[in-house]
This record gives sequence, C-alpha cells and structure tokens, in this order.
Amino acid sequence: MTTSQAPLIPAPGDSRRRPLVVMRNVSKMFSSGTLALSDMSLTVEPGEFVSLLGPSGCGKSTALRIIAGLGDVSTGTIDWPSSRINSKGLPEGDISFVFQEPTLMPWQTVFGNVYLPLKLRGVSKSAARDEIMKTLATVGLQDFAGAYPRELSGGMKMRVSIARALVTRPKLLLMDEPFAALDEITRQKLNDDVLRLWRETGITVIFVTHSVFESAYLSNRIVVMKARPGRVHADFPLVTSMSRDAHYRTSEEYRQACEKVSNMLLEAIGGEEH
Ligand SMILES: Nc1ncnc2c1ncn2[C@@H]1O[C@H](COP(=O)(O)OP(=O)(O)OP(=O)(O)O)[C@@H](O)[C@H]1O
Ligand SMILES: [Mg+2]
Repeated sequence: MTTSQAPLIPAPGDSRRRPLVVMRNVSKMFSSGTLALSDMSLTVEPGEFVSLLGPSGCGKSTALRIIAGLGDVSTGTIDWPSSRINSKGLPEGDISFVFQEPTLMPWQTVFGNVYLPLKLRGVSKSAARDEIMKTLATVGLQDFAGAYPRELSGGMKMRVSIARALVTRPKLLLMDEPFAALDEITRQKLNDDVLRLWRETGITVIFVTHSVFESAYLSNRIVVMKARPGRVHADFPLVTSMSRDAHYRTSEEYRQACEKVSNMLLEAIGGEEH
C-alpha cells in the first residue's frame, strides 16, 4: 500500500484527469412505482467539491447510491471513467461513502472500526497500523485509537466514520448529510476538517446537504435538485478568491453566495425568487 499523498494537480495524461463519474439521462423507478430520478445527467471532474442540494425526497440519496454503484439505474447510463471496473461493471475500491449516522461497530475500538475496510481487503492489522494511525491523525483522533464508540461525542464518532472512509485512499468521497445530526459548532468544525482534507489530499467530494449555508461554504460547484420526479434544476460553480475559513463566513462574498444558492433552492421548490 502506498503512503504518499496524491498530488493536488494531476499531470497531463494522468488517469485522474478523466471524470470520476458520468451519469447520462439516468432515471430510477423503484418497484413501488416511485420515479425517484428522471433524466438526470451529471459529470464530476477530479478535484471538484460538489454539493447536491434539494428538498426532501428529491432523490439526492438515490443519486448518491447510484454514483457509489450501490443501486442500478432504470434507464440511462452511469460510468466511472477513471476507475478500475470489476466483473459486475462496478468501480472497485475508488469510492467511499459517509452516511448521516456514523454506523460504528460498538464492540470495536476506534482503531478496529477504521481497520474494517482494510481487513475486508485482506490487509493484516500490523500492515495496516501505520495507515490507520496516520488517517486518525488527519481527523484529530490519534489519541483515541483505543477508545470505544460509547466513549466518544457525536462529532468524534463522525470523525471516526470519515477516517474509516479515507483509510482506503479513495478518489471519490460521497457524503450523505453527514453532519445533519450535529450541533452547529461541531458541524462548522467538521466542515473545516473536510475542507482541509479536500485541499490536502486532492480528493473529489460529492456532499449531500439540506443546508444552503453549508453548501455555500464548502463547495466549488452546486447542483440544485428538484422533486417529483428528482432531476437537476441548476448546476453552477461557486468561485471565490478567499480561503474558506472563519473570515469567509462573515464576508459579503459568502453572503452573496448564500443568497444565490437560496434563490436557486426556492426556485426548485416552486417558491418566488427574492
Ligand atoms: N428503496 C426505496 N424504495 C421505494 N422508494 C424509495 C426508496 N428509496 C427512496 N425512495 C423514494 O424515492 C424518492 C427519493 O428518495 P431519496 O431518499 O433519494 O430522497 P432524498 O432527496 O435523499 O430525501 P431526504 O432529503 O429526505 O434524505 C422518495 O420519494 C422516496 O420515498
Ligand atoms: Mg437522503
């Protein structure tokens, strides 16, 4: 296993320059008859931080599961041009998922929980140790390797869940409302952690959220979805020359970004623009 960090800007000809995900005209009808997605197209390039934003039930989780290879499409296609594809036509090992609940094994320590994905790949505990400790350090939990989930706060549990997702060094990190259950201060801290990880590792992130403020803070691209059936309503970049930090949170630029995102969301749910 390599321990070197991915370069931030891939060299020309590097496979990481190819899109990570290409969804073309995807529709998803569940057996219940619910049309969760209709004609959704989305291409995600390496290094992007994309937020998927939209009202409840508009198909964000369904889209994310399809992107992860966890659910099939009814019509349309999904491709992962820069991933190794296995015999089932699914990407192998390049994509990690963080859910709203940390879903840790209560009988395992923090170390044991982060070890799980490496164990499933047949890596021995001793071979995995350095990588696990390094990953725990990136989320500020290096001193908690021996702790059990019950001994941790909600924010710390979520950090373990993020470490577990990062320990396999995925190219693409999918996060489905990961911080929705946390208090505002913890949420802001974790937002900053995720931004730092994104900057330092060059990982690509697709982040599902209900929060206009969170999406405007984190992303360099926002995809607003519309419901019944779920589809893309707006897809636009959020460019800022400022670094996204406490100063940015109180800036006029951030306020304007929030206003723009909020208007797009209001449009998507059929409200009036203001
Ligand atoms: N396994 C399933 N079987 C049947 N219908 C489903 C299933 N999963 C989701 N749906 C339906 O598909 C639609 C989209 O659901 P989805 O969970 O993707 O929305 P969402 O945007 O993630 O919502 P939320 O913001 O509440 O998490 C909803 O109408 C939902 O009821
Ligand atoms: Mg959801």
